[in-house]
Amino acid sequence: MMEKTIAQSGDVEEMTAATLSSLIALVHRHTGIAMGERKSILLQGRLRPRLRALGLESYQAYLAVVERDPKEVQVFINMVTTNDTAFFRTQHVWDYFARSFLPAWVAAHPGRTLKLWSAAAASGEEAYSMAMLCEQFQQATPSFQYQILATDISTTVLATAAAGLYGGRSVERIRASHPVLFEKYFSIEPEGARVVATLKKQIRFAEHNLLTSLRPPEKFDLVFLRNVLIYFEPDNQKKVVDLLRQNMHDASKLILGESESLGRLQTCYVHELPLVYGIGNGAT
Ligand SMILES: C[S@@+](CC[C@H](N)C(=O)[O-])C[C@H]1O[C@@H](n2cnc3c(N)ncnc32)[C@H](O)[C@@H]1O
Repeated sequence: MMEKTIAQSGDVEEMTAATLSSLIALVHRHTGIAMGERKSILLQGRLRPRLRALGLESYQAYLAVVERDPKEVQVFINMVTTNDTAFFRTQHVWDYFARSFLPAWVAAHPGRTLKLWSAAAASGEEAYSMAMLCEQFQQATPSFQYQILATDISTTVLATAAAGLYGGRSVERIRASHPVLFEKYFSIEPEGARVVATLKKQIRFAEHNLLTSLRPPEKFDLVFLRNVLIYFEPDNQKKVVDLLRQNMHDASKLILGESESLGRLQTCYVHELPLVYGIGNGAT
C-alpha cells in the first residue's frame, strides 16, 4: 500500500508521513525544538528552496543529505529555526531594565563591568536594544561600563546581527516607537538603517546551542532568554535554565519572553517580577 503523503509541490516530490517524522526528529536532535506534525506545511515551505538548490526531488533525499553531511546540519538549522524579533520587544521589560535593574546594579557593584547575555539573540535587535539603553545610562553615569554577548544557534541571523543593518518592519517599528533613539543610534544607508559603531563595539556575536554543555567561559549579571523556551518541551526547558545557572552569579537575573514561565518547572529560579527571575537559596 502507498504510504500516506503530506503534501505535493511541483518539482519537489510529496513528503511522506515517515519523512516528516524523521525531519521533526532531526530538528529536535539538533536544536531541541519540539515541532508538532501540524508544522508540516511550514517545514516544507522552509526546506523546499534548499531541495531545489541541491537539485533534489524529495524530502527523503534531503534527509539523507543532512544525515550524511555535517556541513548541511548548520544549513538545516538555519532554515528550521523561527527568528522573529524586534527592537524593544515587550516594552515593560525594557522599562525594568533601564529604570530598575541598571541603577540598582551599578549601586551594588561600583567599579565593575556589567555583563549581559542575549542568549537567543536572533538577528540582534534585542542586544542592540540593551546597548542603546546602556549608552543612555552611561551618559548620566560616565564610569558605567558594560559588555554584551549575543548568541544564537542560527548562523544566518547572527550574520545579520553582526552587520547591524536593518530594514522593513524592524526599522519602521523602532522609528515609530523610539524616534529619539533611532535618530541617535542609526545611520541611514541606501540598503537600510545601520546601527552606529559605538553600539556594535560593545557586542560580541557567537554561535551557541543552549542545550549543549559548552558554555561561554564567563558569568553574566543579566541573561535575556526570551521567546525561545516556548519551542522546547518541559524537559529541555529545565535543562536549558539549569545549564544557564552556571553562567550566572547568585545575584544575577534571568528574563523570559511574554508567553513563557518557569512556574511548572523545578528549578533554582524564583519569580521576582513579571518575566523576571532571580536565583533562590534552595537551589535545585
Ligand atoms: C523567536 S527568536 C527570539 C529572539 C529574541 N530573543 C526575542 O525575544 O525577540 C528565537 C531564537 O532562538 C534560537 N534558537 C532556537 N533553538 C536554539 C538553541 N537550541 N540554542 C540557541 N538558540 C536557539 C532561534 O534560532 C531564534 O533565533
